[in-house]
Amino acid sequence: MNIILLGYPGSGKGTLAKDLSKALDMVHVSTGDVLRDEMAKKTALGLEASSYMAGGRLVPDRLVMDMIKARLGAETRGLLFDGFPRTVAQAESLDDWFTSRSQDLDAVVFLNVAESVVMARLGSRRTCTGCGKIYNVISSAPAKEGVCDACGKPLMTREDDKTGVIAKRIQVYKDQTEPLLAYYRSSRNFLETDGGKAPEAVTKDVLSLLRVKP
Ligand code: AP5
Ligand code: MG
Repeated sequence: MNIILLGYPGSGKGTLAKDLSKALDMVHVSTGDVLRDEMAKKTALGLEASSYMAGGRLVPDRLVMDMIKARLGAETRGLLFDGFPRTVAQAESLDDWFTSRSQDLDAVVFLNVAESVVMARLGSRRTCTGCGKIYNVISSAPAKEGVCDACGKPLMTREDDKTGVIAKRIQVYKDQTEPLLAYYRSSRNFLETDGGKAPEAVTKDVLSLLRVKP
């Protein structure tokens, strides 16, 4: 099964993808996580991507597509895309790539969450520097402040979770990613769910939409 998760920054794509990839034994492909990893390692791609990401802009399509093909060319398991595609050009390239591999998309899941809710969530998100577990200081805080429950490593605030950058990311989503809703709604197995519910409820709803027993 190949699935795309779509939604605003902060709509819960990463949180859902971690649960769903475990439940369905799929490869979680977060282009944001891969790019942050490239930045941390100071690779050529990471250095080129960093100014785009720090300002809340999209990394150019060419770089993202090359990265996807290089990372996933040999992968045979189902792919769960989180934060990709993000432009119609990326969606078209993904269609071509699937065709070249005699594969297809099985579902597109849109997490519908109000803009005011995602703004609040992003301002209070913390992420583990070790295992990548996602927290929220208001709704899902760790037992010990600033420390990951799962691996004990420190938590951090993402560079692009500053107020000004959050607003820019929301605008970029509206301008460049929202057109994907029309692109997929007309042609694919397009599923929409209420991403404003609690994380466990969102996972349960999506598994049920995919007709998989939780
Ligand atoms: P990326 O890392 O993909 O960020 P994003 O799309 O902006 O989404 P986020 O990761 O901020 O939010 P999320 O939906 O994953 O929510 P989360 O689960 O963390 O991309 C970052 C940057 O990389 C981009 O700006 C761009 O520069 C670049 N980039 C990446 N991909 C690219 C591409 N394809 N093309 C070009 N450039 C690209 O949850 C958020 C918070 O809410 C957390 O605190 C969480 O605990 C909480 N939460 C989650 N679910 C719930 C819930 N159901 N109820 C209550 N709280 C919840
Ligand atoms: Mg994410």
